[in-house]
Amino acid sequence: MIKKIALGIVLVILAAAISAVVWMAIANPGMQGDSTPPEIHQNNASNNPGATPGGPQSEVTVNIKNSSFTPPTITIKKGGTVTWVNDDTIRHNVIAKEAGNAAGLPTHNELFGKGGTYKFTFNETGTFDYLCEPHPFMTGTVKVIE
Ligand code: CO
Repeated sequence: MIKKIALGIVLVILAAAISAVVWMAIANPGMQGDSTPPEIHQNNASNNPGATPGGPQSEVTVNIKNSSFTPPTITIKKGGTVTWVNDDTIRHNVIAKEAGNAAGLPTHNELFGKGGTYKFTFNETGTFDYLCEPHPFMTGTVKVIE
């Protein structure tokens, strides 16, 4: 008799548990099947230099690696400073493609080796193409906006 009552209680609890799970599945279909985590859309300067929420940056770094400027085109706020960092073992520099450019970027400059940097502050808006003096195939562009 006691065993039958115990079995009855177990069955009632079991039935309640099953109906609770079924009810939750109906109420919240998302709990079944779809285990894919939600995609995270990051939009910051480090992984998307073309898009700068809140306007252009005033400090941008361009790396020189394998004799190329990375990223080759950057956008910077007027009055902002670009820092070029040489990651190559050979020496490079940064010179303006156009003499007499409004930014005042020189057309002749010092070479700098591995770990060396060159900084230039752009106080005029415009699009300024530059290159490396001894390796003119190395080119880049700085866009300066308000
Ligand atoms: Co070079």
